[in-house]
Amino acid sequence: MVTVRVPAKVNVQLGVGGVRPDGYHDLANVFFAVALGDEVTATPGDGVTLTCTGPDADAVPLDDTNLAARAARLLAAHHGLPAPGVHLHIAKAIPVAGGMAGGSADGAAALLACDALWGLDTPLDTLLELAAELGSDVPFALLGGVALGRGRGEILEALPVSGTFHWVFAVADGGLSTPAVFRECDRLREESGTGATIEDVPTPDADPELLAALADGDPVALAAALSNDLQAAAVSLRPSLADTLHAGTEAGALAALVSGSGPTCAFLAKDADAAAHIAAALRASDTCRTAHATHGPVPGAQVVSAPRP
Ligand code: C5P
Repeated sequence: MVTVRVPAKVNVQLGVGGVRPDGYHDLANVFFAVALGDEVTATPGDGVTLTCTGPDADAVPLDDTNLAARAARLLAAHHGLPAPGVHLHIAKAIPVAGGMAGGSADGAAALLACDALWGLDTPLDTLLELAAELGSDVPFALLGGVALGRGRGEILEALPVSGTFHWVFAVADGGLSTPAVFRECDRLREESGTGATIEDVPTPDADPELLAALADGDPVALAAALSNDLQAAAVSLRPSLADTLHAGTEAGALAALVSGSGPTCAFLAKDADAAAHIAAALRASDTCRTAHATHGPVPGAQVVSAPRP
């Protein structure tokens, strides 16, 4: 039996370029791994089977569309294993379809768990390539820490970061579809007259002030530099998110933004006490289902000695 713990992410910068001919958008995507995470446990099995527990377990597909199942099959195919056998159990804490890359995290965790269970010793570079085939956010979940993602988000460069930052995540009822949010971003750009293609929108770059704030471990400077080009699209599809963002700011957050494609909202706090206070205020508000205080950055997917009780 092998258990892998894997972090969720928040994008501290999500710069979205124009839509490419292949339908993807070039990004300047600064991923930040947070301690809120899932655990995937692999045990020997017959074929590839899945179970899931956690508050959102009912929303997790347990068929071959699940990224954890796809990861197991992809790794087996890469090594020419004729009949992969594994049961994967997902202990889910990351909001489902929440903009925190929970499905991608489970894909990354399954790659690592199956690699260990089957004794394959796949090099990290190969695991990162397989991860990129599974989805744009999967490689980062293997790497963790803080990283700049270029291309569609899969070309990663680790970034220097000091200290620990404290975050609160407000979980919404129901998810948002990532492709739908990107489409809404394109629609809003077309509606505003700027256009939405790579000819219309300059390729985004990492913000130097954001990179300096991360390197300095300065939450006030990071709060001033946070940005998400998908935020307007997520709020357009889910207008109530404006109330959630407002409630966290009222409770003393240094900054509030939509996490990735949403609908989870992220709040940066000045320290752990402030984060606990903001999370309690959000839970008491009627603007979200629940809220979690957490911190980061944390490492990417890693094998742990035993699952959480
Ligand atoms: O790569 P992944 O399958 O996770 O992406 C899900 C969807 O999000 C894509 O099909 C696409 O609609 C959108 N996307 C995008 N540009 C990116 C990443 C994702 O348009 N850089």
